[in-house]
Amino acid sequence: MPRRIGISTGGGDAPGLNAVIRAFVKHAVRDRGWEVLGIEDSFDGLLRKPRGLVPLDLPSCRGLLSRGGTILGTTNRGDPFMYPTADGGKIDRSAETATALREEGIEGVVVMGGDGTLAIGLRLMTDHGVPVVGVPKTIDNDLSVTDLTFGFLTAVEVATDALDRLHTTADSHDRVMFLEVMGRDAGHIALHAGIAGGADIILIPEIPYDPDRVAAKIKARRDVGRPATIIVVAEGALPLESASLDRKARLARLKRGGGAAAIAMAQLEGRIEAEMRSCVLGHVQRGGTPVPFDRILATRLGVAAVDIVARDGWGEMVAYVGDRVVSVPIRDAVAHQKLVDPQGELVYVARATGCELGA
Ligand code: F6P
Repeated sequence: MPRRIGISTGGGDAPGLNAVIRAFVKHAVRDRGWEVLGIEDSFDGLLRKPRGLVPLDLPSCRGLLSRGGTILGTTNRGDPFMYPTADGGKIDRSAETATALREEGIEGVVVMGGDGTLAIGLRLMTDHGVPVVGVPKTIDNDLSVTDLTFGFLTAVEVATDALDRLHTTADSHDRVMFLEVMGRDAGHIALHAGIAGGADIILIPEIPYDPDRVAAKIKARRDVGRPATIIVVAEGALPLESASLDRKARLARLKRGGGAAAIAMAQLEGRIEAEMRSCVLGHVQRGGTPVPFDRILATRLGVAAVDIVARDGWGEMVAYVGDRVVSVPIRDAVAHQKLVDPQGELVYVARATGCELGA
């Protein structure tokens, strides 16, 4: 009997998920003779009747390298330990999930996800003995123990392209233009795209900003004949006055204020005299084809995941460290979030090239 391995994608999608699936299936089926079953919508497919399971063979991988999203579907509410019920409650269906895997003869699952999904996978392993191998996934690049996650550079490319476009219209109208990019907790996309796209000001959650400093930068530019200003705002960036809020209160503040860019714009009203406009890039950053680097990284991780399963390295996760693909314990990856280091080299580089970070 060939080994039968499940594969699932959980949390928000990221360009490159399908490239991982393709690489995993190719290496597993061609070189190992395994059967691969895709589980639909994170773990939800296991809890449906009939079960949402898709046999993945070589023909089913055609065209996946460049295809965005995930052919398996995903959800960011797919927690079998807290499964949502029709009446708005939550029930624990984790034992049912493990039973379904055993009934289907699935020996273990390759779980692609961010910290939330990987933590669920790990808990299925510790509480119910489900063998799990992790593949890190988030466009935010905020998972620790991996230098990069696929999808991140694609998101940075989309955001940089948006900045290039905003420069010309901002210049034409002498406007202050805000671009809000994803990153509720981590400002990696904003910082990278801001540097690549020549932003004048970058606001990130890790550095609560002083609106007076932001206003001063805009005025200073005007004083030297540069009336247009480009500001990149991460989705989670807030002014200094909100610095002491906990995560829940921060998210509530962002919602109340209509989002980070709207809040930043409101903070500048009355502090500067300039026409302002904002653009929220949103899910455009997550859709579409992955850039070549992300396709290559995804392919490397998919191949490495097969090799980990082959040596029964359950509980491990593939990671990209110093241009090498390595294996690390999943528990290390979910232990803490990788945030932008306000004292780090990239922040230094942004400042050294004239960029204002608001504090
Ligand atoms: O974690 C990835 C991410 O794209 C974040 O940057 C963003 O805050 C969030 O997901 C958006 O989630 P949703 O797709 O549920 O709106």
